[in-house]
Amino acid sequence: MIVPIKYENEQLLIIDQTRLPLETVWLTLETKESVWEAIRLLQVRGAPAIGVAAGFGAYISVRDSKAEDSATFLSELKDVCEYLNSSRPTAVNLSWALKRMLAVGEANKDKSPAEIKAILREEAIAIRAEDEASCKSLGEYGLSLLKPGMGLLTHCNAGALATARYGTALSPMILGQERGYNFKVFADETRPLLQGARLTAWELFHAGVDVTLICDNMASIVMKNGWVDAVLVGCDRMAANGDGANKIGTSGVAILAKEYGIPFYMFVPSSTIDLNTPTGKDIPIEQRDSSEITSLWYKKDMAPIGVKTYNPAFDVTDAKYITAVVTEKGIAYPPYTESLPALLAK
Ligand code: MRU
Repeated sequence: MIVPIKYENEQLLIIDQTRLPLETVWLTLETKESVWEAIRLLQVRGAPAIGVAAGFGAYISVRDSKAEDSATFLSELKDVCEYLNSSRPTAVNLSWALKRMLAVGEANKDKSPAEIKAILREEAIAIRAEDEASCKSLGEYGLSLLKPGMGLLTHCNAGALATARYGTALSPMILGQERGYNFKVFADETRPLLQGARLTAWELFHAGVDVTLICDNMASIVMKNGWVDAVLVGCDRMAANGDGANKIGTSGVAILAKEYGIPFYMFVPSSTIDLNTPTGKDIPIEQRDSSEITSLWYKKDMAPIGVKTYNPAFDVTDAKYITAVVTEKGIAYPPYTESLPALLAK
């Protein structure tokens, strides 16, 4: 089972996801700049995994602080958290984990810097452990919606690589595999960064799941052929009204699913639900470099040099297209303005 982020012998290690599937390379992150860059470059990616990396990142960035009093130490921690939070805008798990690290530091302001450091270390470990438990639970709830032999479609990578372990939308697929469900999974390649081809197909293939890789523009034909019984995707930030931002292309898949009468399930740990963001319109959408579209995967440029591009990394699936939201606390159904707060209060 893949564990993409490790904290071993006081070192923060991540699998460099930009090198997959051909090479499994572990990076040691020792400074706040290396953590910022790893998140920005998608060496560590996927909303929950970004949160876990940020928790450890905040700790390793202040553990060698020479501050002699807690006020100075906490002001350094605040600066580090603000800096790391600027690495990517959309996945709320980043700010969620950093706010949590800062809050636990501030709640212990009466202690010495050395004592606060030890508490921050434990908090980062707790964030990772909670995500692992949450993904396990998402797998069970997700599987309860599915039947053996079903055809499933997923977009981007919401697997173990995107979390502490197990994954969100891929968790029931892996669990189903262990329990003999024999799912047939279609993985959208997920242009432009190919998380579906490079990461999801790799994870499912190695877990022995029957996975078929398709280009993003093939989702409609496989649905029309009757090969898809449910769509399972992850989420980077869910607003209070149930609108959910996920990898660019997700909303199109949801609209297709509605047209073909296929249930569309979004897998959203509570760390990804942001009740302070009222609707999808309020979710900041990351814009990325044009080279990801024009040249990244090609030997030569595949677009006129200098052509204008539009490269949003995420889109928002309107709540009306989401059949159910699977969380680690249970399954929420519309109206989400009522069911999400009720679940979170559990
Ligand atoms: O740009 P990425 O690769 O970080 O985007 C990731 C996604 O959109 C995932 O689907 C999402 O984070 C859910 S991961 C459990």
